[in-house]
Amino acid sequence: MRRIAVCPGSFDPVTLGHLDIITRASMLFDKVIVLISTNANKSTASFTATERMMMIAEATAHLDNVVIDILDGLLVDYVKNVKAVAIVKGLRAVTDFEYEFQMALTNKVLYENAETVFLTTSKENMYLSSSVVKQVAYFGGDISPFVPACILETIQSRLVKEEHK
Ligand code: PNS
Repeated sequence: MRRIAVCPGSFDPVTLGHLDIITRASMLFDKVIVLISTNANKSTASFTATERMMMIAEATAHLDNVVIDILDGLLVDYVKNVKAVAIVKGLRAVTDFEYEFQMALTNKVLYENAETVFLTTSKENMYLSSSVVKQVAYFGGDISPFVPACILETIQSRLVKEEHK
């Protein structure tokens, strides 16, 4: 049996922290589906789902068992549909815990086979988030320590504020 994992997130944009979790998940499961999802609690995204998909595709091109998809609906429905055995999420610091715990339990109530597996973030990425990347890029700062090199230019040129170009 091929063990499929789903790795959901907003990925707006994908960071080195996300890439680390995706890479490690690809070593633990036969197939990993990176699932671009909508977080109803977050205001409008900076990148469209298709743009996010293309950036992740470029950053994960070297990982043979990773595919990308876009979610339009409930995560558990998707998980059930593809017969995934795990939902993989990265856990950063204490602050992530409550929110992630709430989502994992909600998903389990909605679908009893929904198992969430948390991978501890690497210490280099403890502080990293898409919002931090967006802020630095907006003011013309160097985001190369935070995002995959192959998509650096795409992210920087899109997010930088006019007067910082
Ligand atoms: O990157 P994020 O914002 O932490 O990802 C959160 C996400 C997108 C995984 C979560 O909001 C989600 O699963 N959205 C899909 C809709 C859904 O199933 N919501 C119920 C989960 S509690």
